[in-house]
Amino acid sequence: MYYPHDFHMVRGELHCERVPVGRIADAVGTPVYVYSCKTLLDHLRKLQTAFRTLRPLICFSVKANGNLAILRLLVRHGAGLDIVSGGELYKALRVGCPASRIVFASVGKTPAEILAAVRAGIFCFNVESAPELEAIEAIARRMRTRVRVALRINPDVEAHTHRYIRTGVAESKFGIDPRTALDLLRHHEAFPSVRLIGLHLHIGSQISQAEPFIQAITRVAQLLKQARPFGAPLEWLNLGGGLGIIYRDERPQTPQAFARAVLPLLVPLRVRLILEPGRFIVGNAGVLLTEVLYVKRSRGKQFAVVDAGMNDLLRPALYGAYHEVIPTDAGRPSVNGARYDVVGPVCESADVLARGRRLGSVRSGQRLAVLGAGAYGSTMASNYNGRLRPAEVLVRGSRWALIRRRDTMQDLIRHDVVPKALLS
Ligand code: LLP
Repeated sequence: MYYPHDFHMVRGELHCERVPVGRIADAVGTPVYVYSCKTLLDHLRKLQTAFRTLRPLICFSVKANGNLAILRLLVRHGAGLDIVSGGELYKALRVGCPASRIVFASVGKTPAEILAAVRAGIFCFNVESAPELEAIEAIARRMRTRVRVALRINPDVEAHTHRYIRTGVAESKFGIDPRTALDLLRHHEAFPSVRLIGLHLHIGSQISQAEPFIQAITRVAQLLKQARPFGAPLEWLNLGGGLGIIYRDERPQTPQAFARAVLPLLVPLRVRLILEPGRFIVGNAGVLLTEVLYVKRSRGKQFAVVDAGMNDLLRPALYGAYHEVIPTDAGRPSVNGARYDVVGPVCESADVLARGRRLGSVRSGQRLAVLGAGAYGSTMASNYNGRLRPAEVLVRGSRWALIRRRDTMQDLIRHDVVPKALLS
């Protein structure tokens, strides 16, 4: 199978770029996330190239991977950042992302978060409701400034993806329905501290075909046409993220194919384009390395009990997501032989990273790589079961560096307070 990434078997050993991943595991232990610089930048470049005729602003979605080193790398290579909280704003500013390349979505921005973003002078708020628009207007007015806003439209299209990660259907909490949006645009002068510069869409994640995007663009195109006479300066269209990647046997569109499908719809709209890719950039750029602790046989079933669990990589437990698992030192997994459930140590039946996989003959001490773990892996990790969140490592060519140290025991208790007076 073809994977558009830089993790390869070389002489029976899994390498990230030119570094054997075993060497990283020897040095920092497991579980550890390992990312490839080259894959990250290749994916960013593919999008930049595919859409270059529209000179898009590509804002990497921080929620997919918020590691400062990764954010800085992408920002250095021209990316902006898509944020959804004050915490992500803080990170974006810490890595030196120009405020002019920060866009802020979220259905529940707090007054403090809005204030911080107004102060920072971010490029645009993606507004998800009429009351939120009023809140932003009030804060901007108090600050005697004017802020740029795009209305996030809920186009009511089916993105054909997991129901937990589709966001553009009518019953979803995201975005503003077109009729309300049209009303707001009609009355844009009621918001003098806000410049309504465009429309925003994000219809879901892990979408492999252009069709849902085409439907959504068609709906916003209609809205733009109806709203233009009202005089708001609708110069930008933000298509959100959502481009799917290969986890198993998906055949997602390439960025070129995606661009070819949507550019003809976008060009006549005379808008500048924003994209907010997360998974497409970082998903296949990271793996989670884990070590087999025990091989357990029970009633004819075989389990590989590993040292990574659902607290480290939640996607299989939360979405039933499929991640390829391969031994790091044994060439290709055998096509026949025993099947294993790869399970973590967490006390939950859902703590299964992979089911029924042929992994050759698994032994304790063997390392496995969980592929496609770069997006929504480390950002969704937790300390559940008193577990230390994993280390993270970035590889560039034949060099590598730690970009997040493993949690320590001290990290586990850092924020707990024991009020002695109350407990005596
Ligand atoms: N823009 C907005 C407003 C979003 O809500 C999201 C993701 C993105 C951009 C980036 O989407 P992407 O290009 O990564 O598909 N935890 C789930 C995915 C949740 C996606 C949430 N929103 C998973 O692991 O599959």
